[in-house]
Amino acid sequence: MALKGFNSSVFMAPMAGITDQPFRRIVQSFGAGNMISEMVAVNALQRKNPKSWKIADVRDENYPVTVQLVGNSPELFAEAAKFVSELGAAAIDINMGCPVKKIVNNNSGSALLKDEVLASKIIETAVKATPLKVSVKFRKGWDNEHINAVSFAKMCEQSGAEHITVHGRTRAQGYSGIADWNIIGEVKANVKIPVVGNGDIDTPEVALEKMKQTNVDGIMIGRALLGKPWLLNCIHCKIHQLSEPQRPNVAKIRDILLQHLNLLVEYYGEFGGLSVSRKHIGWYVKGLYEAKRFREEYTKITELSVAQNLINEYFSKVVE
Ligand SMILES: Cc1cc2nc3c(=O)[nH]c(=O)nc-3n(C[C@H](O)[C@H](O)[C@H](O)COP(=O)(O)O)c2cc1C
Repeated sequence: MALKGFNSSVFMAPMAGITDQPFRRIVQSFGAGNMISEMVAVNALQRKNPKSWKIADVRDENYPVTVQLVGNSPELFAEAAKFVSELGAAAIDINMGCPVKKIVNNNSGSALLKDEVLASKIIETAVKATPLKVSVKFRKGWDNEHINAVSFAKMCEQSGAEHITVHGRTRAQGYSGIADWNIIGEVKANVKIPVVGNGDIDTPEVALEKMKQTNVDGIMIGRALLGKPWLLNCIHCKIHQLSEPQRPNVAKIRDILLQHLNLLVEYYGEFGGLSVSRKHIGWYVKGLYEAKRFREEYTKITELSVAQNLINEYFSKVVE
């Protein structure tokens, strides 16, 4: 059973600089799983910052997309909730987990873990401002001395969040160490709203195991999708007991990569698209034949047709 109002119990994790429209289109092309934007700052939306408006604008996509908002002002969240619903968002997620200094110093992201009163006001105001579902994504606590995931989850529930996502790391951990799924299970046992677990899921088997272990309602996957956009659908099929889709062979990976590159160039223009494609290319070819040399050559390219030729030439030498 999917989470109520969503296509699946499997969620793409929001990742700044990665989960843009081209990435969502590629992931979506394999099938199911819920799509999300990169985080968008509510004050940048209010200033009508063009880059932020572009991130929040999901009207061109023919599948539901959750837009994630970050900030610290309840009033700006209310305004932003209206903007993003006009820009096609199917749901809104509030970022209360981002560990990045620039965000935290602005009393946003994971800084809100230390201010449950303001966090509650933000959720309540956003919920009142929009008919869209509002969820909250947060970490297990600020640091080892301040683990408050359970009380924070209860606060989210009381403030009107439709569901919550818990990343089983503290802010202090960043992305180091391993995600703590015990606390995710504890959160699940203490609230009635659906709970999505997040952290270190990299295979369908691990996803299923963690779901069974913690009884969570959904699973969110981030870094494991880098260079493997088909994985979200594989995890969806495992969780929803559908037959397992075939993993792409090398020729198929080449085709996915070329399609992703075209989408990036369409969305960002030739220069911007090629520039964003470099990190994705690195992830797609990781572990393949002479990947390092190929990446180095690719980085120098400034024209789409040259990039396409290099990809074709490289893959003609890669064997299964
Ligand atoms: C490059 C990168 C960018 C991220 N950007 C965001 C973001 O914009 N909003 C957010 O809530 N989390 C963000 N995250 C955290 C992920 O959503 C996720 O919680 C984290 O990576 C743990 O999940 P994973 O182990 O499946 O990757 C980001 C993570 C990475 C690696």
